[in-house]
Amino acid sequence: MKVNGQHTRTIWVEPDGATVGTIDQTLLPHRYATIRLATLEDAAHAIKAMQVRGAPLIGATAAYGVALALRQDGCDAALERAYATLIATRPTAINLKWALDEMTAAVRNRPRADRVAAAYRRAGEIADEDVAINAAIGRHGLALIEAIAARKAGAPVNVLTHCNAGWLATVDWGTATAPIYQAHDRGLPIHVWVDETRPRNQGASLTAWELGQHGVAHTVIPDNTGGHLMQHGEVDIAIVGTDRVTAQGDVCNKIGTYLKALAAQDNGVPFYVALPSPTIDFTVSDGVKEIPIEQRDADEVATMTGKTADGRIERVRIVPDGAKVANYGFDVTPARLVTGLITERGVIAASRASLAAAFPERAA
Ligand code: MRU
Repeated sequence: MKVNGQHTRTIWVEPDGATVGTIDQTLLPHRYATIRLATLEDAAHAIKAMQVRGAPLIGATAAYGVALALRQDGCDAALERAYATLIATRPTAINLKWALDEMTAAVRNRPRADRVAAAYRRAGEIADEDVAINAAIGRHGLALIEAIAARKAGAPVNVLTHCNAGWLATVDWGTATAPIYQAHDRGLPIHVWVDETRPRNQGASLTAWELGQHGVAHTVIPDNTGGHLMQHGEVDIAIVGTDRVTAQGDVCNKIGTYLKALAAQDNGVPFYVALPSPTIDFTVSDGVKEIPIEQRDADEVATMTGKTADGRIERVRIVPDGAKVANYGFDVTPARLVTGLITERGVIAASRASLAAAFPERAA
């Protein structure tokens, strides 16, 4: 997608053929800056500190992290250390484990001399596949938006989204945003309600920024606003991303997604989840019971960072000194609240049978 009018991906190999470039998302929206990952530790830090985030981009960064590790040392022990270091960075997005397993399979049975080239090749494929998958998600999701647009006779289609499941969360296109960008590029009138997504504000900071860069009309709303808008017919469709979908179609995504799904159900608003197949975890069924939910630093809730009137970036405390806070990163929306899953192979029901039929090679 575009940054200052120029096409950009979120991750790339630098011209030196070794180090890996990415965008430091902790600085957005007030500053756009790229960083260079040169070591396994750099990659692990970027994921843990959320310089890169979003399930598919976490996976792609981990893949390059393995390549960087093997560049330092190609032995089996180094491969195992890379796996262990990267898997420990964030617990919820299953794309991380998927990518590490793919990388291990790509290099494990090769002689040491071939491993580095094989690792960069597979990491590059993982990145390219993510772009192709998201473009396909966009095409399938576009049909849903077109159907609503046809009913609205020229009035904008109002989409509500939560967190950032945009191109910043992937290698390109985004998942939830891919149908939105494709609709916009085809000239369909579209407007996005962007949940701010406390505590880290991925909606306010990232989704609003990238939609703005691409010229898509949007309005940032406090997280509590969606239900009210739905009651007043101001939301035609909700589309969110996900960090892990279980075999029975439960959807884990950024904290607050579940409440949006409940409000959507109560108001007859279709609630769709866009996902690439590496986000499906066929080893778990009951998302509420089985998916590990990341708990992050209390400071993310107790403080906020923003730009002052004179342009300085400052962090301020918003709760009483000493107040206890909880910071759960994700929640689980049961399959019964999900209207459909927008995948690269089409829009399917959030059910065990549909997931297994659409992705038989993964379900096995
Ligand atoms: O904590 P984050 O910012 O990594 O959480 C991101 C999300 O919850 C996204 O919705 C999800 O990863 C899907 S990204 C296509």
